[in-house]
Amino acid sequence: MDKNIVLVGFMGTGKSAVGHILAHKLNREFVDMDIVIEARAGKPISAIFADDGEPAFRAQERALVQELSARTGQIIATGGGVVLNPDNVTDFSRTGVVVCLRAQPETILDRVAHDSHRPLLESDPDKAAAIRELLAHRKPLYEAIPLHVDTDHRTAREVAEEVLALYLGQAN
Ligand code: S3P
Repeated sequence: MDKNIVLVGFMGTGKSAVGHILAHKLNREFVDMDIVIEARAGKPISAIFADDGEPAFRAQERALVQELSARTGQIIATGGGVVLNPDNVTDFSRTGVVVCLRAQPETILDRVAHDSHRPLLESDPDKAAAIRELLAHRKPLYEAIPLHVDTDHRTAREVAEEVLALYLGQAN
């Protein structure tokens, strides 16, 4: 079975950049969940949060996990909050190798400092505090994923190589 590679991890850990590299390298389909959700909703994630609320976004995210985990051969970059529903991780693990990308709060702040499309960090004028708080809350959920790669001070290409090595060790 051509298991999926499923990248999870907090915002700014490089899931999309690493996913792109892996898809190119392995000649596989790349699915960026946030982009699919935006395309289907016809508006950006920040507008989905603002107009419809976070629960509506989570429901769309859940439905997409169910759809994607029924297929194989994909490289999937998830949104940072996908781990909030444990069923998402269970479903993805059936047909894929789930790898958690990690980074220190300072690295995350550096990477997202100039972004304005992450609604969970927009509401708080103190982005560093928002990151620390959300990370602390989600830490056990990310730590429950057995495979992880640290991304601090590393390029997306280096991280992709390590993800690939983990995948090759698990895929069969
Ligand atoms: C979220 C992360 C975002 C996006 C949404 C919610 C989260 O994705 O799905 O804003 O709850 O951490 P990225 O991790 O790609 O920024």
